[in-house]
Amino acid sequence: MGFPQVRLRRMRRTEPLRRMIRETRLATGDLIAPLFVRGRTGVHNPVPSMPGVAQMSVDRIVETCVELEALGIPAVLLFGIPERKDATGSETWSDQGIVQQALRAIRERCQNLVLVTDVCFCEYTDHGHCGVVGSDRRGRLTLDNDASLQNLRKQVVSHAKAGADIVAPSCMLDGQVQTIREALDHEGWTDVAILSYSAKFASAYYGPFRDVAESAPQFGDRTGYQLDPANADEALREVALDVEEGADMVMVKPAVNYLDIIQRVRSRFGLPVAAYHVSGEYAMIKAAAANGWLDEKRCVLETMTAIKRAGADVVLTYFAKDIALWLRGS
Ligand code: PBG
Ligand code: ZN
Repeated sequence: MGFPQVRLRRMRRTEPLRRMIRETRLATGDLIAPLFVRGRTGVHNPVPSMPGVAQMSVDRIVETCVELEALGIPAVLLFGIPERKDATGSETWSDQGIVQQALRAIRERCQNLVLVTDVCFCEYTDHGHCGVVGSDRRGRLTLDNDASLQNLRKQVVSHAKAGADIVAPSCMLDGQVQTIREALDHEGWTDVAILSYSAKFASAYYGPFRDVAESAPQFGDRTGYQLDPANADEALREVALDVEEGADMVMVKPAVNYLDIIQRVRSRFGLPVAAYHVSGEYAMIKAAAANGWLDEKRCVLETMTAIKRAGADVVLTYFAKDIALWLRGS
């Protein structure tokens, strides 16, 4: 050798040294907490496949939001579970809809919480698909893109009126961002932002979500509109289109199996990137931890750090509150 040996271990010797040179920092300010709101009062329905997650009525959701805001979590993402479903999901654009009620009630108590709404139809349609289903010219049932876009316009305007700061379309309809931007601007909601679920893959990891949101498709699946997990270039085309159409933020979903996509989106486009650590990713850690096979806190912090290291600015996660508690004072 002769030369002084390169010793990288010198800077790993103590925690203060490691902290000083840490490249990626997870912060409570990076998190968005998804919440599931349903009708009536005093409701707290736990979901077996997602321990720690529950459907809640508006009063309980408001209490939760007060807590989350006090912990420093900047934003929540609202999903609605309606009392009544129909073929078009018409409850999504009712000003008395469950999400609209929740928005007004939360805003009264939490002035500074960023209110994000999931914009889709699958929790509201009796068939469980993400829009209007019709037959194509070959007589096959399919998601009718353009009819669904018309309903999307009504849904986002209703969310904006009720107090949404950001609308997050998750239907994977072509042209959804442009349509939403036009609808919002036309009604004077030019300051309501769009977080597009741009690269949303047809993933098996959404299973537990469909239990809590009661949104499983009653026939077929979503492979006709969500991305094929094998396709990275196509995911980048989706993002490029959404950026052109006026998205303020883009999302990659799920997170862990798609870190390469997060990294490519971050390096190609100069706008904030969100990653959704989805229900199945949550359930896997919970189940292993419950069996004593993994250390929950260490796994969650490592996973979130990896998602950020790949390039995500914001992480949507069911662990948001736990993370905020773990990071408190650090
Ligand atoms: C559908 C939607 C899905 C999720 C959020 N909105 C997936 C789906 O059912 O296709 C998944 C979130 C999760 O798994 O945590 N619009
Ligand atoms: Zn949907």
